[in-house]
Amino acid sequence: MKKRSDSDGKLLLITIDGPAGAGKTTVSRMLSDRLGYKYIDTGALYRGVAWEAKKAGISHDDDAGLEKLCGSLRLEFVRDTNGLHLFSNNSDINGEIRTQEMSMLASSVSARPVVRKYLLILQRELGKGKGAVFEGRDMGTVVFPDADIKFYLNASVKIRAIRRYNELSDKKDSSTLEEIERDIRRRDENDSTRALAPLKPAEEAIKIDSTDLNVESVVNLMISHVQKHLMH
Ligand code: DC
Repeated sequence: MKKRSDSDGKLLLITIDGPAGAGKTTVSRMLSDRLGYKYIDTGALYRGVAWEAKKAGISHDDDAGLEKLCGSLRLEFVRDTNGLHLFSNNSDINGEIRTQEMSMLASSVSARPVVRKYLLILQRELGKGKGAVFEGRDMGTVVFPDADIKFYLNASVKIRAIRRYNELSDKKDSSTLEEIERDIRRRDENDSTRALAPLKPAEEAIKIDSTDLNVESVVNLMISHVQKHLMH
């Protein structure tokens, strides 16, 4: 695939939305590498807010407290060979935000309008200049409605739970497969039924089901769509 330096100077903004465990992060990283783009894991930003709220003793439904917290936060990404690290006010909090507890808390704070408003501005700022792959829940529907290419990545609940389980057991999280599947179902329900920016495919999104596809196949499929787009 052409790198950004030789893709006729046309930098794209690509969005990948979908539920937890569909493979968005791995796919985004590989797709961005193939294109020479940056990638932004927007779920990490919601996790960062959740982590800081917990640390400050702010409840997930305390809008005034969350608003004040967001006003004082500085969330930044630093990429190294292991992937993307989220820094909050200069501390690397990547390890802390990747737990089941933070998954659920991020889902809860993500339903609060004050949090979405704060992160909407930050995400659009990060998207300036394009040449980026953004993954999340509302990238193609709300944050970047004019994105060049929108993907919606999904997989069965069972396979998503197994993937998450394998990921977490590498990190020594003791959650069982049953607990993870239950939490994934609950998060799917929270994320897709909330009033503001619910999880759903954009009308023009290219839908990919990764239940029976490995990561390479998904990325190759996406690259073929990117190539088609660049030829037009
Ligand atoms: O992608 P993730 O599992 O790290 O996301 C954690 C939570 O953040 C998810 O349950 C819902 C929320 N989220 C969101 O509401 N909008 C996004 N663009 C990304 C994540």
